[in-house]
Amino acid sequence: MSTAKKDYKRVTVKSLVEMKSNGEKISMLTAYDYTMAKIVDGAGVDVILVGDSASNVMAGHETTLPITLDQMIYHASSVIRAIDRALIVVDIPFGSYQSDPKEALRSAIRIMKESGGHAVKMEGGKEIKESIKRILNAGIPVMGHLGLTPQSIYKFGTYTVRAKEEEEAQKLKEDALMLERIGCFAIVLEKVPAKLAKEVADSLTIPIIGIGAGNGVDGQVLVTHDMLGMTHEFNPRFLRRYLDLYTEMTKAFKQYVTDVKAVDFPNDNEQY
Ligand code: KIV
Repeated sequence: MSTAKKDYKRVTVKSLVEMKSNGEKISMLTAYDYTMAKIVDGAGVDVILVGDSASNVMAGHETTLPITLDQMIYHASSVIRAIDRALIVVDIPFGSYQSDPKEALRSAIRIMKESGGHAVKMEGGKEIKESIKRILNAGIPVMGHLGLTPQSIYKFGTYTVRAKEEEEAQKLKEDALMLERIGCFAIVLEKVPAKLAKEVADSLTIPIIGIGAGNGVDGQVLVTHDMLGMTHEFNPRFLRRYLDLYTEMTKAFKQYVTDVKAVDFPNDNEQY
């Protein structure tokens, strides 16, 4: 059982490593705008990820590939204005770090300078090692992301569980160790077998934050709109819905339409 072991007024990358060594699980959720971030932060979530899942959730794209660096900076700066406690991690979007380490550093610097985010997240292992090193050398904390990496969806072909085969599992373990060695402060492991995820978490000192990676890791992340049940077409096995906001919001909107049509809204108390 892991409950809060220490009261963090502000969560930093150091707090996360400390949480892991104290056996305290880390909570992480996404947010892309001020209002949602204020609620998520106020509820005591440790890390807010300004994920490139904004491409799906906010903009309605099929994949995370189309979102731009400017758009990520816009979302991240809205989130930053809302928070008092959480650590804010911002995804570097597809196309802004894959070509070369200099471009990667420029993108990371833009995120830090223009949004005020606290750290960046990047998808991939040894293929992007030099880019991660360059960003770390500039003093910018980096969270890795292994397993199912949605920016490579066209290489994988599907969103199914990754690293079920020994060869891919071995590469993932090597990549995770390399990310720790070069100085990443945490790693997201997405959609991999729980046994493998636990093995990785147990073998590293930096926290492993899972999504669809079982409960043997050091923390969990979900896309907020999914866990609130605002989206209803996305139903992976790992998703726990804490609310059914799709139904609740639909009910509210329908009631509003009815009230407006019936001239029941506004009533005498709701006008000047
Ligand atoms: O973009 C995102 O929301 C993510 C999480 C799924 C980890 O990367």
